[in-house]
Amino acid sequence: MNLHIDSERLKGEIEELAKISNAEPPAVTRVVFSRADLEARAWVAALCSDVGLQIRQDAIGNTFARWVGSDASAPAVGTGSHIDAIPNAGKYDGVVGVLGGLAAIRALQRSGFTPRHSIELLIFTSEEPTRFGVGCLGSRMLSGTLSAEAAAALTDKDGHTVDEVRRSAGIAGELRDVRLPTGYYKAFVELHIEQGPLLERQGLPLGIVSRIAAPASLRWEITGAGGHAGGVLMPDRRDALCAAAELILAVEAAARGSGAVDTVATVGVCDVFPGAVNSIPSRVHLMLDIRDTDLARRDGAMQAIAAACQSIASKRNVTIAAQPINADAPADCSPQVIAALTDSCRELSFPFTTMVSRAYHDSLFMSRIAPTGMLFIPCRNGVSHRPDEYSSPEDIARGVLVLAQTLARLSA
Ligand code: GLV
Ligand code: MN
Ligand code: MN
Repeated sequence: MNLHIDSERLKGEIEELAKISNAEPPAVTRVVFSRADLEARAWVAALCSDVGLQIRQDAIGNTFARWVGSDASAPAVGTGSHIDAIPNAGKYDGVVGVLGGLAAIRALQRSGFTPRHSIELLIFTSEEPTRFGVGCLGSRMLSGTLSAEAAAALTDKDGHTVDEVRRSAGIAGELRDVRLPTGYYKAFVELHIEQGPLLERQGLPLGIVSRIAAPASLRWEITGAGGHAGGVLMPDRRDALCAAAELILAVEAAARGSGAVDTVATVGVCDVFPGAVNSIPSRVHLMLDIRDTDLARRDGAMQAIAAACQSIASKRNVTIAAQPINADAPADCSPQVIAALTDSCRELSFPFTTMVSRAYHDSLFMSRIAPTGMLFIPCRNGVSHRPDEYSSPEDIARGVLVLAQTLARLSA
């Protein structure tokens, strides 16, 4: 098959999409169901329509763009990713899998290839947890990991439910219909930037993912006692922020002490009440993100953190209430999809390595309902979730070429 990726066009589309954002360039912010997110989805959907893909949207806003195969009733081969972006993000996270997936489909069309199984490009809703606290909202629901009732009840910081927000964004239908029937996909494959430094350090252009780490997250509400910063003497204090500071360090110690580099833990949200320089913090809201490729080790670190919570609460006479958000299992990628990616790399004479994904992806949930695999490309200095995130057009085009070849193999 003679496949040619139009790298110039793809580069231009990545730049165009980055302009649909709520941040000053080069930063990109596209929070789910914001005006920018909706505009970006419509823009990508129009590109898909232009090449004859059939578009449908489900009740949570997942968008499916289908190139109908010669056997229209056979299970489809899925690809795609997300285009929502955390505050102050870059241009490539998720986007490479969506616009790259479309570029792969265009290349296959131009080559004269006709798929037997339909090829379907997905734009997942809210891979990022920014608005509703939970990541991979769309793929969690597609896979039945998150029920319609639980999803409908999620709220944003203004107290609006998922159900209200998606309806006011013009997305209709019943959330209970989002779950896909078993066997809908023959296979699913996601192209993504690595979001870490390993490919670049090893001088390799491609990584085939074998396993996706297990993420968990939770909220803490720490309640102490406020008061006058001058009047309340130190022995009498129940400062919620001092307790939070100890807890944050206990999180770091638990991850560092697990004995494995794959244990990573972060407190990325810290809201202080009342937030005045001359007032003792009475309440602090923290959010924990913790991950590991090994479930037992991650849960062990979480137990160590829970024990630290108890001792900090009693030592400082504060309460620490924990509200779990998610605690997902890791996923193994499918041998069948790994083999298709491997054969494609070999056929194209591209060097590659096999690696784990420490970031989570919609593939974590797609793997619950379909044989799933992922392909990583390098990103400069391993940087992601920052405005200076960058992958070169050459690296992107190489990933798209392998994706196209793999889609052809899986859909033939
Ligand atoms: C995805 O954005 C992640 O946080 O891994
Ligand atoms: Mn991300
Ligand atoms: Mn991503």
